[in-house]
Amino acid sequence: MTNSPPGTPPCLLSLVGNTPLIPLRFEPEGLTIYAKCEFLNPSGSIKDRFAVAVLADAKRRGILHRDSVVLECTSGNTGIALAMVGAALGLPVTILMSQSASVERRQIMRHFGAEVILFQADAGYRTGIDIARSMAEKDSRYFLPSQFDNPLNAEDHEHFTAQEILQQAPQPIDCFVAGYGTGATLAGVGRGLKKCYPKISIVAMEPAEAAMLSGECPCCHAIEGVAGGYLPPLLSTAPLDGAVKISSQEALTMTRRLSREFGLLVGTSSGANVVAALKQAQELAPQATVVTILCDRAERYFSTKLFIEEPAL
Ligand SMILES: Cc1ncc(COP(=O)(O)O)c(C=O)c1O
Repeated sequence: MTNSPPGTPPCLLSLVGNTPLIPLRFEPEGLTIYAKCEFLNPSGSIKDRFAVAVLADAKRRGILHRDSVVLECTSGNTGIALAMVGAALGLPVTILMSQSASVERRQIMRHFGAEVILFQADAGYRTGIDIARSMAEKDSRYFLPSQFDNPLNAEDHEHFTAQEILQQAPQPIDCFVAGYGTGATLAGVGRGLKKCYPKISIVAMEPAEAAMLSGECPCCHAIEGVAGGYLPPLLSTAPLDGAVKISSQEALTMTRRLSREFGLLVGTSSGANVVAALKQAQELAPQATVVTILCDRAERYFSTKLFIEEPAL
């Protein structure tokens, strides 16, 4: 059962994507950057795009049947997005996630009716992916969106997110900077923008504590949703020109500044992306257009450092 009359796509799906791109003027620094407001997607993150793309595609291709269950390993946002779209399409969803991901995320997924299975915090993304694969091998009801390997994840950003940015940003676009979880945003948006502007710089933001693209070992960091201790396969399809390291402290400070100076209630990876974008803008001409992503909302970080270690005013 879905929330729309038979034959029509559920209304919810039409709310995904087409997010605004806003200028952020930083007076003390004398810099303006442009931020794509992905936190305005209906479940609150950029991952709504993949959830709609993969489940609508599976439905179209007739892969899903009456007893199919969507099964995914995710640090949270993809799980929330799949749980939401699954609810709208009448599909059961099971999510595998690390114990370390914030408790708010689990609660939201369960609120959408998804089953949540936790694995050990120190095990890293790969373990969860392997558990999902072995569950699917033993039980044919499971459908795996496979966000880390599925080319559709990046293609959707190439065909939609990148095209939206091309329509919204002041031209030419000189730089696009974003973090990587699956690498799909950098791969898809990067490819889409590079086709139009071959000289654009596509830059990966990575936590200074886990700068794997810079050849360093992954360690704990506070920028949830990115750099899960593994270089994802989709990232190798991103037309990267460089990487910029942002510390957890820089990310937390900027995320708080975004809420207090701009009224933007966004998560820590958004703060990290904005610091990275400002660093790129500083190196370019004053009129250069630097675009980044505000990936998700702050409400899913109440139990994390972002709120717990908030300095008193
Ligand atoms: C908060 C947050 N920021 C950034 C990303 C990175 O997106 P991608 O998986 O496209 O690399 C994610 C991915 O889950 C995320 O949850």
